[in-house]
Amino acid sequence: MTTAQFPTLADSGLSAEAAALATGTAEHPIHSDHTPTGQLAFGAFFQGVNSSTIWRLPSSGDQVAWESFESLVRTAERGKFAAFFLGEGLRLREHRKVPFELDVAGRPDAQTLLAALAAATDRIGLVATQNTTYNDPVDLARRLQTLDLLSGGRAGWNIVTTDNAWTGENFRRGGYLDHADRYLHAEAFVEVAEQYWRGESISHDGAHYSVRTQGDLPASAQGRPVLFQAGASPAGQDFAARTADVIFSPHGGLEAAVDFRRSITERVVAAGRDPGSVKILPGAEIILAPTEAEAEEKVRWVRDLQVGPEQAIALLEQYWGRDLSGFDPEGPLPDVAPEVSESGVTRGAGFQFAKAEELTRTWREEAAQKGQSILEFAREKSGARRGTFTGSYDTVAERLADFARLGAIDGLNITPWLIPSGLDDIVDHLVPRLQERGVYPAEYAGATLRENLGLDPL
Ligand SMILES: Cc1cc2nc3c(=O)[nH]c(=O)nc-3n(C[C@H](O)[C@H](O)[C@H](O)COP(=O)(O)O)c2cc1C
Repeated sequence: MTTAQFPTLADSGLSAEAAALATGTAEHPIHSDHTPTGQLAFGAFFQGVNSSTIWRLPSSGDQVAWESFESLVRTAERGKFAAFFLGEGLRLREHRKVPFELDVAGRPDAQTLLAALAAATDRIGLVATQNTTYNDPVDLARRLQTLDLLSGGRAGWNIVTTDNAWTGENFRRGGYLDHADRYLHAEAFVEVAEQYWRGESISHDGAHYSVRTQGDLPASAQGRPVLFQAGASPAGQDFAARTADVIFSPHGGLEAAVDFRRSITERVVAAGRDPGSVKILPGAEIILAPTEAEAEEKVRWVRDLQVGPEQAIALLEQYWGRDLSGFDPEGPLPDVAPEVSESGVTRGAGFQFAKAEELTRTWREEAAQKGQSILEFAREKSGARRGTFTGSYDTVAERLADFARLGAIDGLNITPWLIPSGLDDIVDHLVPRLQERGVYPAEYAGATLRENLGLDPL
C-alpha cells in the first residue's frame, strides 16, 4: 500500500482498521479487478442442527414445525433479506461412530419445505442445499427448476459435495468419493444440470452416470436457479470460481474475509469471468443489544447456552478423535495425544486428519496461556468459528458498513441464535441503520433472487 492512497480510502468512509487492510485504490481497495458495490445482501440460514441455534429456551421453536420456518422467513422478508437458506442432512450425524445425541433432530427435506414457503412469501429467495454426490443431475435440476418456476424466479441451489461417509451408506450407490473426486464429479454434475436448464439435448457418459435426455421445462423468470457454492478448500474455491453465482464462505472475520475475496477474485479472473459476477456471503452470527455493555453480557449468556459442558467435550473429541468424557470441562485441555487415524468428525468443517496432532498441541498451549478451561476455550472457539458480529446496534452497523465499503463481502448468511425470534432485532434495529448508511437496500430491487443479489441477467 502506498501512503498516497490513504486519503482516497479515508474519503470513502473506511475505518482505520478497514483502511489498514486495503491494498489498492478507492475504486479497488482489495484487488485491482474487483470494484466493490458497497452493498450488502442478507440471507437467513435455518440450520436445524449445530449448537449455533439454541433449542432449549422456553422461547425456542420446534426444529421441524412449520411455524418455525414460516415465522422466520416472514421476518426475513420484512427485513428485505435476499434469501432464506436450508441446509441438508440426509442421515443423523455421527460422532465417534454413533448417532450424535446433541444433534437431536434431523433436517426435513429442503425442497418440500421451500415449495411451501414459496406460497407463504412474495420476494425472498429460497435456497436449497443439495449435494452432488448422491443426487442425479437431471432429476435434481428438474426439481429445482420446478421450485424456480412456481416461486416466480426465487430459487437457489447451494451446491455441496458432502464430506462424510455415513451419508453414503444411506444410498443405493453407497460409499463416498474422496475429496478430489467429489469436485470432479460436482463439475460434471453441474454441467449436465446447466444443459438441462438451457433446454439442450443432453448426452453425457461419465464415471458416475450416463444421461440421454433433454430439458423439458421452460426457463424461469431468472433463467435458472441461482447457484451457490459452499466449500472452502482450494478445489472448492476453483470449482466456485468456474461455476457459482454466490460463494457461501466460512470467513466472517474482516481480515479473513479480505484474504478470501482476494483469493476468489484471482480464481474468478483466471476462469475468464468478471469478478463482479460472483458474490461472497460468509456465514455469520449477529448478537445485538442497545448498548455495548448489554451486548457483552448477552454474548456471554448466548455462549453459555450454545456451548454447555457436553458440547465443549464433543467439540474437542472431533479433533482428538477419542473419548474425552473423563475430562473435567472446568479443567485444562486434555494432555493426551489425539488418535490421528480416528480423527473423524461430527461436523464436516472440523476434519483435520494428520493435522490433529499439531492442532491439539497449539490449542493446549493457547488455552494454558490464556488460563482457559475446556469450557471457556470451547466457547471462545465456537464464537470465532461463526464469524460473529456482536455489539450495540450502532457499532455493528458501522462495522458492517466498513465491510461493504471495502468490498470484502457482498453480504452475510445469518444463522439466528434463536428461532423463530432471532432475526427480530436485526430487522428492527440493524437493518434501518444499514439503510441510513446506504449499504443495504430500502426495497427489494426486483422480483427474482438474481436481481435481489445484484447479479446481472444471464
Ligand atoms: C458454509 C458451508 C455450509 C455447508 N452446508 C452443508 C450442508 O448443509 N450439508 C452438507 O452435507 N454439507 C454442507 N457443507 C459442506 C460441503 O459438503 C462441502 O462439500 C465441504 O465443506 C467440503 O468441501 P471443502 O473441502 O471444499 O470445504 C457446507 C460447507 C460450508 C463451507
